[in-house]
Amino acid sequence: MKKRVLSGIQPSGKLHIGNYFGMIKRMVEYQESSDLFCFIANLHSLTTLTDGKELKQLTLDAAMDLLALGIDPDKCHFWVQSDVPEVAELAWVLSCITPMGLMERAHSYKDKVAKGIQPNLGLFNYPTLMTADILINQSELVPVGKDQKQHLEMARDLAIKFNNTFGETFTIPEPDIPDEIATIPGTDGQKMSKSYNNTIPIFDDESVIKKAVMGIVTDSKAVEDCKDPKTCTVFKLYSLFAGEDECRALADRYKKGGMGYGEAKQTLLDKIFETFKPFQEKRAYFEKNPKEVEKILEKGAEKVRKTSHITMEKVRTATGLKY
Ligand code: ADP
Ligand code: TRP
Repeated sequence: MKKRVLSGIQPSGKLHIGNYFGMIKRMVEYQESSDLFCFIANLHSLTTLTDGKELKQLTLDAAMDLLALGIDPDKCHFWVQSDVPEVAELAWVLSCITPMGLMERAHSYKDKVAKGIQPNLGLFNYPTLMTADILINQSELVPVGKDQKQHLEMARDLAIKFNNTFGETFTIPEPDIPDEIATIPGTDGQKMSKSYNNTIPIFDDESVIKKAVMGIVTDSKAVEDCKDPKTCTVFKLYSLFAGEDECRALADRYKKGGMGYGEAKQTLLDKIFETFKPFQEKRAYFEKNPKEVEKILEKGAEKVRKTSHITMEKVRTATGLKY
């Protein structure tokens, strides 16, 4: 039996290469070897967005982005979260066994509040909805970046608690967070994130991508100085795109001296353009054919509703909601 792998992404803006290497590329690989469930988490975005038109556009954009980057609806389950309303029902059931203390310890919630976001109940309950996404599909493996680690620990805790309380119902999910791509650095060397304004976007004008790459912060060594590839953000990003031989060649040039950071950035930029060009062309195709995208999502949700229904029947029976 193929492993059931699930991950979701919030439709919340332009995708960056941290999203790509941290999660999307891995999902594209997983669809070849496993039973992949990939969805757009628009109910989660509702915790921070209040403009309906914007959420609708961001959701379609996210679908086009993922399809362009290689998510293939013939090889995986691909849908929009709110098209399977059973997940909201499960989130409610789970919230009834979720200890307040567990939610109060959530880093992501605390960070958002610290940043001045006025918290609502949805934001507080975010990890329970995420747990419902994972459990309703009986997911075995969840590929995400390191920032989601605590949410996955909560999902495991709640799955175990539910099974102990109501009887074996859910598969206990495992996180999949490989060290080398756990935290992709942004242009300032910190974690790349929309919230930190340090991203290199995937689908944007060449001039925007170039400006971001040329703005990567480095130390102030002169062209002739020997440089350390291990501590350089330009090199770290290059190594995500390049093969072993190419990485070794660039590392040698760093160590020898004689190459400036400007040249290293140009080498990285060439790699980025070369890698993403075919995806950009595919993205343009979907943009011209939005109806095709809507059809794909509709079909995807139909399939997932069937499997979600099976889990929910078990949950209703176990909890006594089915009378
Ligand atoms: P952002 O931090 O820009 O808001 P999201 O929270 O929407 O990004 O992340 C979507 C997915 O991409 C998640 O699985 C997350 O773990 C992954 N991800 C985001 N940024 C990075 C990063 N810098 N390194 C590794 N993975 C990342
Ligand atoms: N919270 C995730 C993020 O911001 C998105 C998400 C929602 C998710 N539900 C999920 C990821 C279930 C993995 C599994 O990136």
